[in-house]
Amino acid sequence: MRYEVWTKDSNRLGVDCLVAGVFEDGELPDATRQIDKACGGRIAALVKRGDFAGRNGDTLLVGELPGLRAKRVLLVGQGTRTTLNRRLWRRAVYTAVTALARTRIGSAAFALARPAASELDDYWLARATAEIAAAALYRVNDLKTGKKPRLPALARILAGPVATSGVAAARRGFTHGAAVGIGLETLRNLGNLPANVCTPSYLANTARALARRHPQSLRVRVLDERAIRRERMGCFLAVTRGSEEPPRFIVLEHRGGKAGEAPVVLVGKGITFDTGGISLKDPPAMDEMKFDMSGAATVIAALTVVSELQLALNVVGLVPTCENMPGGRAIKPGDIVTSASGQTVEILNTDAEGRLILCDALHYARRFKPAAVIDIATLTGACVVALGAHHSGVMANDDALAHELVESGRRADDRAWQLPLTEDYAEQLKSNFADMANVAGRDGGAITAGAFLGKFTKGLKWAHMDIAGTAYLSGAQKGSTGRPISLLSEFLIQRATH
Ligand code: BES
Ligand code: MN
Ligand code: ZN
Repeated sequence: MRYEVWTKDSNRLGVDCLVAGVFEDGELPDATRQIDKACGGRIAALVKRGDFAGRNGDTLLVGELPGLRAKRVLLVGQGTRTTLNRRLWRRAVYTAVTALARTRIGSAAFALARPAASELDDYWLARATAEIAAAALYRVNDLKTGKKPRLPALARILAGPVATSGVAAARRGFTHGAAVGIGLETLRNLGNLPANVCTPSYLANTARALARRHPQSLRVRVLDERAIRRERMGCFLAVTRGSEEPPRFIVLEHRGGKAGEAPVVLVGKGITFDTGGISLKDPPAMDEMKFDMSGAATVIAALTVVSELQLALNVVGLVPTCENMPGGRAIKPGDIVTSASGQTVEILNTDAEGRLILCDALHYARRFKPAAVIDIATLTGACVVALGAHHSGVMANDDALAHELVESGRRADDRAWQLPLTEDYAEQLKSNFADMANVAGRDGGAITAGAFLGKFTKGLKWAHMDIAGTAYLSGAQKGSTGRPISLLSEFLIQRATH
């Protein structure tokens, strides 16, 4: 996709289609009025006749308007001027790209009404346009054997109008947005793959391929089971025991900052399939546990974005990855294992496996003397109960770091909400036989999971993101959402540029 900024007269642009907003009360936004004038009031007449109501989500493709250089205009409903906000604007862009993707239109100049500059400046106009276009144009890499539908022809998107003084900011926005778009595609592709394809080895090979594309800045190391054993990752090894599929521990290192500068370490839960183990899950929707590696995919996607942009920042990605299966060698409720940190854990429920692979990875993070450690995991059903599909959960031992993540999510429209990780929750993890249990009952389940991880991150600046509710959709729209790559990219871009 090519992204460009347009500044003055949309009617001078050599594009196949102009995308123009219409308000619900029939009023035309400024940019649309300009187009309307050029075609002798045809748009105003059409709206007046009642052919287009301008409700948010409405679209109408009009061809061959006289006086316009573009052969078509796509009218897009934008609700009322007073209710237009960033959220509705985003939805209008998504709707428009979706409509264009159903045609053979190859290039389009967007001239939609924008919310107040305080909500959407030129940088974000461009960045969000690129991110939304990537999301709307995403096609799942399916294994259907029928004839593949033709791919959208759309290859060039222009956003505007932008004042000359804003062009540089908008171009920067496009660069960042396009990179996040690539990350989004990476994440969704990995998430959507079935577990018999997307194995731990597959994730490791994906990381290797990424590193090969950026030999100057990205290094990859993959630990196999023997190397994992050498690291004494007893909790991680406990989870993988029941599976025939070999585990992997992936280490990706992006060197963009000064040598010796403390890195941001990202840790992603890479359970390629979660049956629950001996504490077997119920059959309904168990297939969705192929998405239990979404944290891992987010980390690989984040390093993709960081590499694409060559961010001036040191970033480390850690991915412990294995399956959680029942079997003759699988861990059993009541088993006690020793983590890499030396602390012992009584595994009361083998379905609370994410925290077990993460705790050893978090301990591994210490050797990088990190500026911050962030783990990303589809960790608990309790987080879905608490926040639904709208916010990712954030827990941290450092409020400034939590705030930084929540704010990144707000700016990127990929929202997250902080949950209170006070000491009370850790007390619920007491065990009679080991330093701690791996579960603490139903109440506050998202936070007790966070509290478990907190026992392995003492002295680190650490935050935990629970994306169980946000990483994928169920039902008819089943699939990876690509969250929270926008949030995380924004966090890293901010750290690299400020
Ligand atoms: N992968 C699941 C969490 C999950 C549940 C993600 C639903 C997405 C949707 C995790 O490994 C798990 O099974 N957690 C248990 C923890 C419990 C045993 C304390 C859960 O949430 O039920
Ligand atoms: Mn589980
Ligand atoms: Zn899981």
